[in-house]
Amino acid sequence: MARTVCAKSMLLVSLLVCCFIGLTAVKYDPNWNSIDSRPLPSWYDEAKIGIFIHWGVFSVPAFGSEWFWWNWQGIKNPDHVKFMADNYKPGFTYAEFAPKFTGELFNATHWADVFNSSGARYVVLTSKHHEGFTLWPSNVSWNWNAMDVGPHKDLVGELAGPVRNRGMKFGLYHSLFEWFHPLYLADKSSKWATKHFVKSKTMPELYEIVNAYRPDIIWSDGEWEAPDTYWNSTDFLAWLYNESPVKDTVVTNDRWGKDTLCKHGGYYTCVDRYNPGILQNHKWENCMTLDKSSWGYNRRSNLTNYLTIHETLTVLASTVSCGGNLLINVGPTADGLILPIFEERLRELGQWLKVNGEAIYSSEPWTHQNDTYTPDIWYTSKVTADGSRHVYAIVLHWPLNNQLHLASVTPQSEMSVNMLGHAAALEWKPRPRGGVVVAMPALSPRDMPSQHAWVLKFQHPA
Ligand SMILES: *[C@@H]1O[C@H](CO)[C@@H](O)[C@H](O)[C@H]1NC(C)=O
Ligand SMILES: *[C@@H]1O[C@H](CO)[C@@H](O)[C@H](O)[C@H]1NC(C)=O
Ligand SMILES: *[C@@H]1O[C@H](CO)[C@@H](O)[C@H](O)[C@H]1NC(C)=O
Ligand SMILES: *[C@@H]1O[C@H](CO)[C@@H](O)[C@H](O)[C@H]1NC(C)=O
Ligand SMILES: *[C@@H]1O[C@H](CO)[C@@H](O)[C@H](O)[C@H]1NC(C)=O
Ligand SMILES: *[C@@H]1O[C@H](CO)[C@@H](O)[C@H](O)[C@H]1NC(C)=O
Repeated sequence: MARTVCAKSMLLVSLLVCCFIGLTAVKYDPNWNSIDSRPLPSWYDEAKIGIFIHWGVFSVPAFGSEWFWWNWQGIKNPDHVKFMADNYKPGFTYAEFAPKFTGELFNATHWADVFNSSGARYVVLTSKHHEGFTLWPSNVSWNWNAMDVGPHKDLVGELAGPVRNRGMKFGLYHSLFEWFHPLYLADKSSKWATKHFVKSKTMPELYEIVNAYRPDIIWSDGEWEAPDTYWNSTDFLAWLYNESPVKDTVVTNDRWGKDTLCKHGGYYTCVDRYNPGILQNHKWENCMTLDKSSWGYNRRSNLTNYLTIHETLTVLASTVSCGGNLLINVGPTADGLILPIFEERLRELGQWLKVNGEAIYSSEPWTHQNDTYTPDIWYTSKVTADGSRHVYAIVLHWPLNNQLHLASVTPQSEMSVNMLGHAAALEWKPRPRGGVVVAMPALSPRDMPSQHAWVLKFQHPA
């Protein structure tokens, strides 16, 4: 009897202890083992699509790319040197471009409408690129910020509201290093023994943007020259995850020191335009540009240099099928415009997603990523409330005789096949060499649910 009571009270104590541990928030330590163990907030994987914005003083010359200053004065690229010699007085400095970064036609509400029309679920703005110019009134970027020079506005603050009002998350890109900052160059000469730049610039900036704007993403960059120990990255991330005002919701990437890319942090970015084509075992993001050769606005770009909507959908399909998110970059002009070529691409994407978003948002990779027989078919899937799985095939080319061969889909007697946006079920039959053959509907252009790519939905019997 006594033993039973004792056992019962022991059970109660252990239950209480368990509850207590369960309720206590996890604390992250400033080391990669601990930082890497944090689960990625679920909103990020569900969102799938974001808009990247590269905007800054580099948008004024808008020549070559956002690396203009470095190309001109860092490596003295002849094309850039000649452009400056031909068009600017001798002795003209990069800082003199800043007053021309006027943003005089910038309308944050309009930008947010354009971004939202693309179907994107988050927006990431360059709060500071490698040139060091901050788009917010930073206390540690004296006279080199958008409030003191150029637009005379808090551009970060102005964009955050309208983006969030439309239900999108708001993230900030931030460059750890600056090409020409004297303190950074001094630390570099000391082989990273001193940390003057990190102490007086990088860290204060990161704390400022988190506390002032509560970003949903910190998209770190400019990490590659110095070790993460120089940047104090794990200390910052431990604060971000334990104590910051966004500790439970913020998402970060993997650019926190020269050995962290594709290894540590939040989701992986690996290389710019990363699109591995095979399933990855860690959440990742493909950050890519609509202008193939530049992130910042490039005045010399031309039509062939911009991705078509078909190319954009191809990248979207392969990225999402393999477990990635797509971050699509636009480069606004110095006066604050998103040019029609970017706007058109984003609106076309939104039109497509209105019909086919079911195959993208909150989807999961399937057993197969692309079809093993027909090229340019990418699969996604979704588990439904009743526990069965729907499979989606994103078809990027309409088959010649309306007969679509899919070797990766196993025929099942009660399987139904639909095209998203089209009411009638599609006929299908087993394919003699394995898989299925789906009869694509003979539709007039007027009745096509979408252009450029189509989604087939396979519903297996429960
Ligand atoms: C800014 O854009 C919004 C949305 O397109 C529009 O309603 C508003 O009139 C614009 N404001 C100005 C000052 O042009
Ligand atoms: C934002 O886009 C979604 C579609 O993705 C739409 O349902 C919603 O109405 C849009 N919001 C605004 C404020 O335009
Ligand atoms: C780096 O983090 C350590 C430990 O939190 C702290 O003592 C140090 O002051 C930080 N250094 C900089 C440059 O932020
Ligand atoms: C700059 O410092 C002032 C005074 O301490 C503070 O009120 C303000 O919030 C700071 N700005 C930012 C962006 O953190
Ligand atoms: C278009 O622009 C790209 C990048 O600047 C360049 O490589 C290409 O030669 C240009 N094509 C034409 C047809 O001008
Ligand atoms: C499927 O994708 C892989 C990786 O991108 C590629 O190597 C393979 O050729 C593709 N299969 C088909 C049938 O296109």
